[in-house]
Amino acid sequence: MPTIAVLSMKGGVGKTTLALGLASAAWNRHWRTLVVDLDPQANASMGVGLMDPALTVGDALADGRPGVAAEAIVPSTWGRGTDVLPSEPAVEHRVAEAAPGSEQRLRTVLAGIGHRYELVVIDCPPSLGEMTRNALHAASQALVVTEPGYFALRGAQQAVEAIDLVRESSNRTLAAPTIVLNRMRSTVAEHRHRAQELRAYFDRQVSDVEIPERNAIAQAEGAGMPIHAWDSPAGRELSERFDTLLDRLFPGGMR
Ligand SMILES: Nc1ncnc2c1ncn2[C@@H]1O[C@H](COP(=O)(O)OP(=O)(O)OP(=O)(O)O)[C@@H](O)[C@H]1O
Ligand SMILES: [Mg+2]
Repeated sequence: MPTIAVLSMKGGVGKTTLALGLASAAWNRHWRTLVVDLDPQANASMGVGLMDPALTVGDALADGRPGVAAEAIVPSTWGRGTDVLPSEPAVEHRVAEAAPGSEQRLRTVLAGIGHRYELVVIDCPPSLGEMTRNALHAASQALVVTEPGYFALRGAQQAVEAIDLVRESSNRTLAAPTIVLNRMRSTVAEHRHRAQELRAYFDRQVSDVEIPERNAIAQAEGAGMPIHAWDSPAGRELSERFDTLLDRLFPGGMR
């Protein structure tokens, strides 16, 4: 199953926005899509209209049986086959950190579920800790989100190191990561400089698709709507970016 983990070490850089943007591109194509929310803030769950879930990914992880996540998966309000495995505030505390193999828990509870979907998108919390490691063990692709700021290079390096560690040891099916610049304002010299710096270091690992800063993002998120349903010039511009990003992640219809 094509499974994208969206991560960053830093908070507030746009992980949830990118995860929902890709899910929206898949929604627009009528792909059956699962949004897995691993963040205790539950922003992705709310972004697809889920406010008060009966069961969560925390319940599934605490249970631990293969495929048990199916019990917590519900349809989102987006419709068209976009489902969500919602999160909860206590999610992180419900996975025993020190337990051997604990980083495989998400993969286990999702076992047998992936084939029902054409795309699985995992929204990670703002850290490279236990939940993000779980995401990387369940994923086939990793997307590192960064803003074009002073700490972008260092933050991306640390995320890529964490991903490479997993790729070289316990998840050899995980592809090399893609780095995406979010909140780009190409008129700002500092942004152009940081983008250049990132590309000088990571070369083609930095996606040519940049996500611009647009109010439509927060507006669509607040309305619980996919950006592809947000009918404005900015909504259409962003939709195109997410379409291209999804194509780049799965070239040649790899799905
Ligand atoms: N390209 C953008 N243009 C305008 N606003 C944006 C953009 N990307 C993100 N935002 C806004 O910035 C805020 C943080 O974005 P988001 O929630 O996606 O970040 P995050 O990395 O998931 O945060 P956290 O680390 O807390 O999970 C949100 O209010 C979102 O609407
Ligand atoms: Mg988030």
